Amino acid sequence: MAIKVAAIIGSNRKESYNLKLIEYMKKRYTEQLDIEVVSINDVEMFSADIEDNPPKGAMDFKTKVRNAEAVLFAVPEYNFSIPGVLKNAIDWMSRSGHDLKDKPTFIVGSSMGVLGSVRAQLHLREIISNPTLQPKLLPGNEVYIGSIHTKMNEQNEITDQGTNDFLDSVVNNFVEFYNKVKSL
Ligand code: FNR
Repeated sequence: MAIKVAAIIGSNRKESYNLKLIEYMKKRYTEQLDIEVVSINDVEMFSADIEDNPPKGAMDFKTKVRNAEAVLFAVPEYNFSIPGVLKNAIDWMSRSGHDLKDKPTFIVGSSMGVLGSVRAQLHLREIISNPTLQPKLLPGNEVYIGSIHTKMNEQNEITDQGTNDFLDSVVNNFVEFYNKVKSL
């Protein structure tokens, strides 16, 4: 049975490459992963004043993450870190319910630059290692897809063989990891 995965895209841009990457992964790995994009676009700005009674957008987001069996982040890099909209969604997940806690999780990311969101992903790993978040994060398997616009065709499929081979190995590693840690 495919693992029910909540995909959190760290970009609220309609033409987001990270969204396209996840839509591609959803089709490519349909037997292993049942990926649903859980949008951060309608998540209200976090305030500790409303955290105990989250507004609808935040509540829907938190509930979808909590109900998933696993989480997949797709992160762009903004100013050497993760975009603010993603940090806001993470702040919501860190409070009532602790939605990410112990959830088997892995991370991918892409950008048009050569570094493929490496600095953002390093920050993301540090942020979610906070005890109030702390998913069961797949170690290693760091997916930095640089120059993404040269690696996708008009159907938004990745045409670069090396990237596809690496993604295949990461997904296989995640499924193996998931089966090991899910009941721990
Ligand atoms: C960027 N971009 C960017 N790229 C990068 O490699 N390092 C960086 O620090 C930044 N900073 C940055 C700040 C802001 C405000 C924007 C709008 C963009 C480029 C960015 O990573 C690129 O546009 C990605 O394609 C965005 O991801 P999506 O929306 O395509 O998923």
